[in-house]
Amino acid sequence: MEKVTENIRYIGVDDKSIDLFESQYIVPNGISYNSYLIKDEKNVVMDTVDKRATDKWLENLEKELQGEKVDYLVILHLEPDHSSNIALLCEKYPEMKLIGNIKTFAFLPQFFDIPNLEERKIVVKENDSINIGKHTLRFYMAPMVHWPEVMVAYEETNKILFSADAFGKFGALDTDEEWLCEARRYYFNIVGKYGIQVQALLKKAAMLDIKMICPLHGPILKENLSYYINKYDIWSKYEPEDDGVFIAYASIHGNTAKAAKKLAEILQEKGAKKVVVSDLSREDMAECIEDSFRYDKIIVAASSYNAGVFPPMEQFLRLIKEKNYQNRKIGIIENGTWAPSAAKTMLEIISNMKDIKIVEPKVTIKTTLKEDSIKQLENLAENILKV
Ligand code: FEO
Repeated sequence: MEKVTENIRYIGVDDKSIDLFESQYIVPNGISYNSYLIKDEKNVVMDTVDKRATDKWLENLEKELQGEKVDYLVILHLEPDHSSNIALLCEKYPEMKLIGNIKTFAFLPQFFDIPNLEERKIVVKENDSINIGKHTLRFYMAPMVHWPEVMVAYEETNKILFSADAFGKFGALDTDEEWLCEARRYYFNIVGKYGIQVQALLKKAAMLDIKMICPLHGPILKENLSYYINKYDIWSKYEPEDDGVFIAYASIHGNTAKAAKKLAEILQEKGAKKVVVSDLSREDMAECIEDSFRYDKIIVAASSYNAGVFPPMEQFLRLIKEKNYQNRKIGIIENGTWAPSAAKTMLEIISNMKDIKIVEPKVTIKTTLKEDSIKQLENLAENILKV
């Protein structure tokens, strides 16, 4: 078990057998449900874990407690991947107090019937602090990062930010992989919609001297914190992170796929710095969403379908729209054999996004690529590299 500091212990659990995190995200390297124990005059547990990890977590907790009891449970986030064991812990430690904010306690009874909750709860608000001996926890509200009741806690003695879902990442802790990719996929899919709220949290964090970040998923961040904070700043401002063209295609029989790949070839010939091509029907949608936010330019290429657009493209565009996709350059390719309708439908969704520049020409392919549609692709490639 990792020692975060001499008196702060990691008691979380890796889950490498989950099929889909939150029933929608593939996690090839699993996920960690982080939980921490602060040992002091009062012993404090910082969040519980998912019900899938109860036994191992209790074992970790009891090992670190060495027969002592838990005095406080801090609830930074009520989503079940962190809150599933609240009632169990209350039962085990009948004198334990629960620390949350007004929203935590408004939602908690929807999850559990906790006996004597009124007497057991400690309601904190912005900037309130609780001293537990050598440590002091100060609380800052972080609504919608990622639920309304989310708050973070700053431990003043060791200068540790317990950041809830913020700075989290897919992947179990024993996975040897870089932070960035799976943290970005996690960010855009889980908190991407709430850029404004993440910005508000970053502003609060900027006032603190932070030496370590302890999130609820993924590794504890101990060094070079400005790197991670800077990534969160870019992402939450909806700024592109890298120069590049992301080509997302939805193709029924492969002809639209051929057009997407042909465009990638042309872009590379014309000197594009980076071109990424993804098949929306087959590749991980969460990764496609991540890539759409990562690059400054995107081309959407889709077959027409039922007088609209092929559903994988419609789903993709609606998802990125929900996540407040904005401030990008978009090129459009449609395909159709008799009455191409994909571009019109795509544009209807795109027209509801903020600060989008549509790059001309809108390319229409009639079934298969021909000399004239290849010419249109060349024009599109030229123009998108200029903007
Ligand atoms: Fe990791 Fe929003 O729960």
